[in-house]
Amino acid sequence: MIVCSCNVLSDGAVRSCLSPGPGCPRTPAQVYACLGCSPKCGRCARTIRSIMQKALDEAAHSCGSACASTCSLVKVQTAEEGIAA
Ligand code: FES
Repeated sequence: MIVCSCNVLSDGAVRSCLSPGPGCPRTPAQVYACLGCSPKCGRCARTIRSIMQKALDEAAHSCGSACASTCSLVKVQTAEEGIAA
């Protein structure tokens, strides 16, 4: 499904950027950069944020609390909390 019509990004493309690790995007802007584009109208930011949150939730279920302090997907949530709504 296309989630960003300006850049023709699919939900699968967004998820492909979200593998845990030091280079994992923590903000929608970093997802755009990871995919070689930049935000245009910004209407998709909320959807991208929600895909990131879902990945965070799935990672939390799959890796448990042992790695929570170092998991890059946990840091997505922290970075998102710092952005004003
Ligand atoms: S829909 Fe993604 S920047 Fe416009």
